[in-house]
Amino acid sequence: MPLVVSLIAAVSADGYISRGRGVPWDLPADREHFRACAAGKWLLLGRTTHREMLGWFTDHHPLVLSRDPAFLPAVGRRVGSVAEARALAEAAGQDELLVCGGAQVYAAAMPEADRLILTRVDERLGGGLPFPAFDEADWPVRVRRRHAGDPQHLQAFEIRIHERARTAP
Ligand SMILES: NC(=O)c1ccc[n+]([C@@H]2O[C@H](COP(=O)([O-])OP(=O)(O)OC[C@H]3O[C@@H](n4cnc5c(N)ncnc54)[C@H](OP(=O)(O)O)[C@@H]3O)[C@@H](O)[C@H]2O)c1
Repeated sequence: MPLVVSLIAAVSADGYISRGRGVPWDLPADREHFRACAAGKWLLLGRTTHREMLGWFTDHHPLVLSRDPAFLPAVGRRVGSVAEARALAEAAGQDELLVCGGAQVYAAAMPEADRLILTRVDERLGGGLPFPAFDEADWPVRVRRRHAGDPQHLQAFEIRIHERARTAP
């Protein structure tokens, strides 16, 4: 089975993942969804996101994208490109590489992505770090799960799984 490259992100209604630093929502059910998707997986993260997530990794294999060949991550392994991450995950027999951001890494990985696992949060940020633009016609939604707002979730959200439409060879 060929490796599937999946991008997973929480994105505002106007297309942003962050105001600049950190995730701008507190959505326990979405964190649980992320944890379930990432369990035991090979992950690709940017150096900034990896630094923010240190202490979170347990059974994961983080690959950390950095242009600095001297960078030695405290957890995981540095890679210099998405292609290198992909080759390592493939060589390890993985069926999925899960790209966990941030914005720079989503942009670098988007051309190679097969699947987008997006939490669309019902809030507009008005600016910040963008998730790459994409055309829904090329990325049909395969799964949709709506979560209403409640006392633990100030914002309602919808989990949408898109898969890249393939043209016949
Ligand atoms: N809402 C969400 O789902 C979500 C998900 C993840 C992250 N975030 C937020 O996003 C923010 C970080 O995003 P960000 O865009 O500033 O940083 P980032 O993508 O996490 O990391 C940026 C770093 O990654 C390396 N890098 C990026 N592109 C590269 C490439 N093409 N080749 C080699 N190395 C590359 C560079 O490291 P070097 O400088 O070492 O070369 C760069 O400084 C965080 O604050 C985080 O909280 C939100």
